[in-house]
Amino acid sequence: MDALRLEELNARNVVEANNLTLKPGQEQFVAPVSNSIAEAYVNQNTAWPRVVYAGENLVGFVMATFDQDSTREEFKALILRMNVDADVQGRGVGRFAVEEIAAEGRRRGAEYLYSMWEGGEDGPDAFFRRIGFEVIGENEFGEVVGRLRLQD
Ligand SMILES: CC(C)(COP(=O)(O)OP(=O)(O)OC[C@H]1O[C@@H](n2cnc3c(N)ncnc32)[C@H](O)[C@@H]1OP(=O)(O)O)[C@@H](O)C(=O)NCCC(=O)NCCS
Repeated sequence: MDALRLEELNARNVVEANNLTLKPGQEQFVAPVSNSIAEAYVNQNTAWPRVVYAGENLVGFVMATFDQDSTREEFKALILRMNVDADVQGRGVGRFAVEEIAAEGRRRGAEYLYSMWEGGEDGPDAFFRRIGFEVIGENEFGEVVGRLRLQD
């Protein structure tokens, strides 16, 4: 795969980001990209939406939120959405995206990067555990809450 890089979500890439595909059965684990884009628009101070390119191809969309003033610890640095195109899943795009979000969290002084996901066979549970997330409990919606340490 060509070299991976992140780009801010912008007018040029937004339509392509919205056309990313998922594998059958994965829709239940992530909200449509269009919802995330709308959320990012109304939460411009905290939302951090990015697209992932492999060379010239848009292969993923991620959105994090960073709010150091939040009273909820998880919202200081939290992955909200990840969507790697069905055709390139399993080739390191998700890991790259999380590393970039972690780097941004570190720059902002966050101690942990959090994520919340639905458990289940076809979901991202194995992915988050594999890349180093420690499961710390469940949230009010029954989702798994995990975190990755950012500071030594
Ligand atoms: C979850 C998702 C973002 C992972 O992205 P990806 O690019 O496929 O993952 P990567 O290739 O970077 O995988 C990183 C590691 O996790 C492992 N992994 C990924 N998915 C896995 C799975 N379903 N089962 C077991 N291991 C898995 C990979 O083998 C890899 O391990 P390695 O580096 O030791 O070889 C992607 O599959 C996706 O978009 N899924 C649908 C939407 C979704 O569930 N999003 C999450 C909502 S928050």
